Amino acid sequence: MKWTSLFVPTTREVPAGAEASSHQLLLRAGYIRQVTAGVYALLPLAQRMRLKIIDIIRDEMNNIGGQEFMLSALQPAEIWKESGRWHTLDEIAFRFKDRKNAEMLLGLTHEEAFTSLARNGLNSYRQLPQIWYQIQTKFRDEARPKSGLLRVREFTMKDAYSFDFDQAGLDKSFQAHYEAYKRIFTRCGLTFTAVDASSGAMGGSQSTEFMVLTDAGEDTVVICSSCGYAANTEKAIARAEQITNRENSPNEARPETFATPGIKTIEQLAAFGVGASAQNQIKTLVFVLDQKLTLILMRGDHELNETKLLAATGAQNARPALEHEIVTALGARPGSLGAVGLRASEHKHIDKILADQSLSERTGMFTGANQDDVHLRGVDVTRDLAPDIWADLRLIGDGAPCAFCEGQLSLRKALEIGHIFKLGTRYSESMGAYVVDDQGNRQPLIMGSYGIGVERMMAAIAELSHDRGGLIWPLSVAPFQVLIVPTNTSDTEVMDAAQSTYQSLKKMGMDVLLDDRDERAGVKFNDADLIGIPIRVTLGKKVRDGLAEVKDRASGQSEDVALADIGELISKKFFH
Ligand SMILES: Nc1ncnc2c1ncn2[C@@H]1O[C@H](COP(=O)(O)OP(=O)(O)O)[C@@H](O)[C@H]1O
Ligand SMILES: [Mg+2]
Ligand SMILES: [Zn+2]
Repeated sequence: MKWTSLFVPTTREVPAGAEASSHQLLLRAGYIRQVTAGVYALLPLAQRMRLKIIDIIRDEMNNIGGQEFMLSALQPAEIWKESGRWHTLDEIAFRFKDRKNAEMLLGLTHEEAFTSLARNGLNSYRQLPQIWYQIQTKFRDEARPKSGLLRVREFTMKDAYSFDFDQAGLDKSFQAHYEAYKRIFTRCGLTFTAVDASSGAMGGSQSTEFMVLTDAGEDTVVICSSCGYAANTEKAIARAEQITNRENSPNEARPETFATPGIKTIEQLAAFGVGASAQNQIKTLVFVLDQKLTLILMRGDHELNETKLLAATGAQNARPALEHEIVTALGARPGSLGAVGLRASEHKHIDKILADQSLSERTGMFTGANQDDVHLRGVDVTRDLAPDIWADLRLIGDGAPCAFCEGQLSLRKALEIGHIFKLGTRYSESMGAYVVDDQGNRQPLIMGSYGIGVERMMAAIAELSHDRGGLIWPLSVAPFQVLIVPTNTSDTEVMDAAQSTYQSLKKMGMDVLLDDRDERAGVKFNDADLIGIPIRVTLGKKVRDGLAEVKDRASGQSEDVALADIGELISKKFFH
């Protein structure tokens, strides 16, 4: 391909509002243009790269026995009503009515669509296992689309679904995807971490997210550098520090009130001079879970993890209660709240009381008395509190002790590029996808679901691999592998060398771009760095001595090579 016949609108300006490096560089290097919020046009360089990533994904999916489908993006509401998800989709789904007033949506995922095919076509255990996948456009009306290709409203996803007869089969399908994903990301030049993840609204049990550690990501993961434990903070656990009960005073026979004028926070009570260190306090949070008022008891120095809260209660929605709701229910304002003596089953307003497991068996604790400016001391959790649910509700913070070794956990920002779930029978049971076993009994299909975001991968590679000059693509996914830059297009000797190098590298099977523009060398070099082609061949004055320069974009190293040997040098050095 010749640059003069390729649309590469590079620009010098850093676009306003583009914060992430990938966003800035993909715009500046002429890969993408915004259409509207969270919607992008991919220009030729980006499309070439997208197709190379897709080739790698397809190759690895076929390797594990995947069969490629192409379902419709348009979906009828009926299947989503059958699975029960129609009413939980909120605003993320693009929904509309067709001209006959039938409800439709644009696929944001395809569990329902694939399950409905499976129930009509898979009838016997003998047909299992199956791995079905597609590479297709997904639509999600994200609340905060941002950062170029990182979070968009229309994107390509490789989504796969496995159908197995038993749990062991599902384990095998899950593991096969796990290994395939590792190969896909490695081949695409990505450094990634596989983390344990909450399965969120999808339902199911085991779930692994493939994360790229970058500040451009919106997720936070917990990592132990000693043993390698890695988890999404949504699910992360830590060792509960051993607390010696009551380092302050012996346990009282019953909780006792004391005046705490103006004391509203854990820190203020800790500094109040009564020995109420944060570890010895019970923090009482009031939340509204699916319209029902819920008390949540945490240790004073711990934070609540709302994802764990939803998982522990099975609720769909959680929000902190408003002050007037709290005052009506408990008779005090936030700052003096507590649950001593409360039973949800006997309470007019409170539906449930949850307690974090780190409070278990603690004594001599401090908490609010449900009376403004009054607290209680001498609280014995077992004796004085009546939680309906004990659960791990804690958000793990930086520096928490690892649950699996002596190491410490650290928090890192991360970007999810792939996600694999064990769905179990969530969809097959609700939608009636059964096969018969060898006894003739009906069994629900056991499913897994596996996604990769194609354009997000592109942006992730850009985040990890760039410098001040521009993008630095890995050879495997770069839009072109080699860029030939003749420094002076009016020099016929240089141009002849450029043309013949171009032809011979192409003959060797390389993906070559020839910068035949009539531009100054400086402009061409800047653009070369910006668009990130991994190998640059420069043809300048040295052509008269029969030499060219071959430069590695990543390391910046270059060497002179005889014109006749360019192809051989490149294939030895870059294509092993
Ligand atoms: N809004 C988006 N923009 C770009 N890629 C996305 C977006 N949402 C999801 N993806 C990609 O699709 C993959 C599978 O998505 P999935 O796990 O179903 O989504 P989520 O984690 O947002 O619920 C993600 O790992 C990610 O690579
Ligand atoms: Mg996900
Ligand atoms: Zn560890």
